[in-house]
Formats: sequence, structure tokens, C-alpha cells
Amino acid sequence: MTTFSTLHLRAIESDLDRAAQLLRSGDLVAFPTETVYGLGADARNGTAVANIYAAKGRPSFNPLIVHVPDVASAKKYVVWNDAAQLLADHFWPGALTIVLPLRSGHGLSSLVTAGLDTLAIRVPNHTTAQRLLHRADAPIAAPSANPSGRISPTTAQHVLDGLAGRIAAVVDDGPCGVGLESTILGITPNVTVLRYGGVTAEQIEAVLGLAVPHSAPTKITAPGQMNSHYAPNAAVRLDVVDAKTDEVLLGFGPMKCDLNLSKSGDLIEAAANLFDHLHQLDKTGKPIAIAPIPQVGLGRAINDRLRRAAAPR
Ligand code: TXA
Ligand code: MG
Repeated sequence: MTTFSTLHLRAIESDLDRAAQLLRSGDLVAFPTETVYGLGADARNGTAVANIYAAKGRPSFNPLIVHVPDVASAKKYVVWNDAAQLLADHFWPGALTIVLPLRSGHGLSSLVTAGLDTLAIRVPNHTTAQRLLHRADAPIAAPSANPSGRISPTTAQHVLDGLAGRIAAVVDDGPCGVGLESTILGITPNVTVLRYGGVTAEQIEAVLGLAVPHSAPTKITAPGQMNSHYAPNAAVRLDVVDAKTDEVLLGFGPMKCDLNLSKSGDLIEAAANLFDHLHQLDKTGKPIAIAPIPQVGLGRAINDRLRRAAAPR
């Protein structure tokens, strides 16, 4: 694989022009979204997409999310329907990915969908992501910008820690606001939550007026939903109230601990801190113990990530 001296770009005009130019010429550029940093490539360029898989060390059967600036662009790639319109009206731009049938003549590399006849698509709600998507004028395939199976990146430094030398550039625009990946909803045509994330099941139910499954799927419904994922180097133990002496404790709510996701017990704050705190505790080299997180709202997505971080590898 080619080695790069990865450019550390900023969210200024000239750097965004540079980033867009790199994307158009088939290079990999990591960029901020409101959820996590994505590792972007032109979704029409098979070589560029193949390089995403190579840089991440990702199994090639795992399809990618395509990022577009607006609904009109999304309609070029998927067969749109009423449920999609309703969801887009409420949650786009934002932390919701919808999976819809691919539209004929879509022009995307088959590597993006890993050969499936559906496509996962999202309009991100982040100024810098939007500016980059407009400048690149291309559908951008982007998984989270971390080596496959490791903790997702919520800062440019996390991206560089995992992928420096393997990608052309990272656009640095500070920490991600949501801090958890998007919720993935299949509408093909039944509505199914494929991954819990930044938009809660409760919010989706309120908009659709129907029940969606409330427990994270146990079998692999999204090909990327492998059991062991988001894994720190160290062992992870969940639902811990008293940590062992050799462990570092990740807390939630008022308690004594090494790092706290949210002292006030706020799940939104906890989501935003989750991956950064895991990155920090992982650097101690000690096993990580984690306090219980309530299984409501964003807590479902947080617990889903934690279960995978703790899963046998
Ligand atoms: O917030 C996010 O979604 C971030 C940012 C960068 O947008 N992206 C992200 O991508 O988390 P990634 O590649 O780490 O996760 C994509 C997930 C995988 O679990 C994959 O299997 C699933 O989306 N997926 C992609 N296409 C699919 C499809 N056609 N049907 C079902 N699942 C699909
Ligand atoms: Mg990921």
C-alpha cells in the first residue's frame, strides 16, 4: 500500500478546496461530521473505494454509507418513497442513515454496496462536511475513520492516531457534537432499525407513528454489525459499580471514577464523550471497567457500542 504523509487540513476555504480536489482525484480524505469523523472517497471510483477498505483493514463484505449534501442528491442513487421523505423531513440533515433500494443507473462502485441491491445514504448536519460535499460535487462513501474494529474517531487526532500514513488528508474541525454514529434504518420496504445511533428509536417512532424494535438486533442484520467492534486494546468489563484495583473506571452520573461520561447523568453529553474517553483510557494500558448506562434514548446506542467493545475478540 502507498504511504502518505497525511495532510492535516483546517476548515478554511483553501484547505477545503484542497480536500475536495483530493477526493475528486481518487484520494482518501477524513472529514468531520456531527456523528464521528468519516473516511471519505468518491463513491463512483472503484479504486478509491477499494483504498478505504485497504486503509481500514476492513473485511470487503462490509458495505459503506454514501454521504450527499441534500435530498435531491440522494434521489439520484436510491428509489425514494413516502417513509423516506417523512424521515428526511424530520431528521435530515442529521444522524440518520436510511437504507433504500439502489436506483438503476446510479453510477456507484459496486464495492460501496458490497454487491447488495440496497444503499445506505445520509445527509450530514455539519457545516464543514456540507462545504466539502458541495465542493467535491460527488457522492462520498465514508465509514468511520478508524482501523476496522477499533474505537471510532471523534477528533482529527483520533483519526491520525489510527490512520496517519495511510490516507491523503484529514480535515480538522474539532470534536464531533453527537459523538456516536448515525442510526441506520432499513426501509426496504419494512422499517427496521439496523443500528442504534444518534437519533433515538423513540424519536423515529414519534415521526412514523409506528413501533420499531427497541432492543439492538442480536443477529447480524447490517453486515457491519459484528459482535466485536469499537474495541480498545485493553479488556472491557461492563455494568461495574466497584472497579478492581488494576482497572480504570469509566463512570456515569455522580460517582468516583477515572473519567466520567457525564457527571450529571446526561445521555447526550455521555454520547459525545464516549469514544474520546475510551481512547483516553485505552492509552493507560489498563483494563477498562464501565459503569451501568440506562437503556433509554441514546443509552441504547451507547450500550450497543459498549457491548461490542466488551465482546470476546
Ligand atoms: O455516523 C455514521 O454513520 C458514520 C459517519 C462517518 O457518517 N459512518 C459510519 O459508517 O458509521 P460505518 O461504515 O462505520 O458503518 C456503516 C454501517 C455498517 O454497519 C454497514 O454494514 C451498514 O452501515 N450498511 C451499509 N450499507 C448497508 C446496506 N445496504 N444494508 C444494510 N446495512 C448497511
Ligand atoms: Mg465504524
